[in-house]
Amino acid sequence: MSAPRILSTGRCLPERVVTNEELSRLVETSDQWVFSRTGIHSRRFCAGEQNIDLAEGAARQALERSGLRPADIGVCVAATFTPDWAAPATACLLQKRLGLREDTICFDLNAACAGFLHGLNTVHALLADCRRPYALLVGSEVISRVLDMTDRNTCVLFGDGAGAAVLCRNEPGRWHTVFGARGDAEVLQVYGPGPRFPALRMDGRAVFRFALEVLESSIRQLLAAEGCGINDLDWVVCHQANARIIDHVSDRLKAREGLFYKNMERFGNTSAASIPIALDELAEAGRLRPGMRVLCAGFGGGLVWSGALFQW
Ligand code: UT7
Repeated sequence: MSAPRILSTGRCLPERVVTNEELSRLVETSDQWVFSRTGIHSRRFCAGEQNIDLAEGAARQALERSGLRPADIGVCVAATFTPDWAAPATACLLQKRLGLREDTICFDLNAACAGFLHGLNTVHALLADCRRPYALLVGSEVISRVLDMTDRNTCVLFGDGAGAAVLCRNEPGRWHTVFGARGDAEVLQVYGPGPRFPALRMDGRAVFRFALEVLESSIRQLLAAEGCGINDLDWVVCHQANARIIDHVSDRLKAREGLFYKNMERFGNTSAASIPIALDELAEAGRLRPGMRVLCAGFGGGLVWSGALFQW
């Protein structure tokens, strides 16, 4: 089987830390409520930085750690639902800022919080037929720009940030994927800037139920494809929306303590950035080593979901 290999990762978070306590001065909420329902204590919000600034920071770090030059990159994809512009795409702006060659395939992809894993598969497919065997994949979000800061149901959940990976094509190795979409504009919707701005609306309970269903079934499908059990894996990195969602799925699958990585306590839900930020934290800390078996799974507005099982 041919698989994309992640050569390196990077991340970029805005400096401004916003605690639950700070939000409790804007809406009727408390650190106790938010932490007990979500596992989130704080998140980062941009204070002037744009999506492209975060994307560039994460991409530069990943590129530097890969040892490659910008001219080696053949594909550049940015996963985001909060770009600075509908056009130009974030990936095109990255082409200029990073000095990628003009014949680099650059575009943005919107699969909401599942964007990074949709991107991983897209990049893998594109690399098969690309002039150069390396790709840059970024998940980058400024969700604070679409939050209604008077809605306590949503404003406490999200954060801004970016994560990136440099990938190499077609190494022999394990590679199983799962994808799904269920068109639904009722339970989670985001309007673009305009008369209804700012505008992220969500039926939290419905998304919660959906997340439990698709995370568990995605993970079971990936384990069946690989022919292994959950505790044969080295890491499970899910989209970091809510610690209760992850704990529930981990319990249902009888996973060992600590197998599912969690960092939403510090960053909240950063949508397409959450999985690459988590991978980067693990890699930087030396907790992700070559040969380890990793399973990633994401879900989000669309509704949409995706998962991948691969070797680090
Ligand atoms: O990337 C995908 C994005 N979305 C998600 O992952 C969201 C998935 N859903 C969730 O994480 C959870 O459903 C929430 C964290 C959003 C909500 O937790 P819940 O346990 O499902 O609470 P709930 O919506 O059932 O609300 C319980 C109560 C309600 O009050 P009443 O109606 O019982 O009087 C809410 O109004 O909690 C109230 N509430 C709050 N109270 C204090 C809702 N938000 C807050 C808040 N602070 N921030």
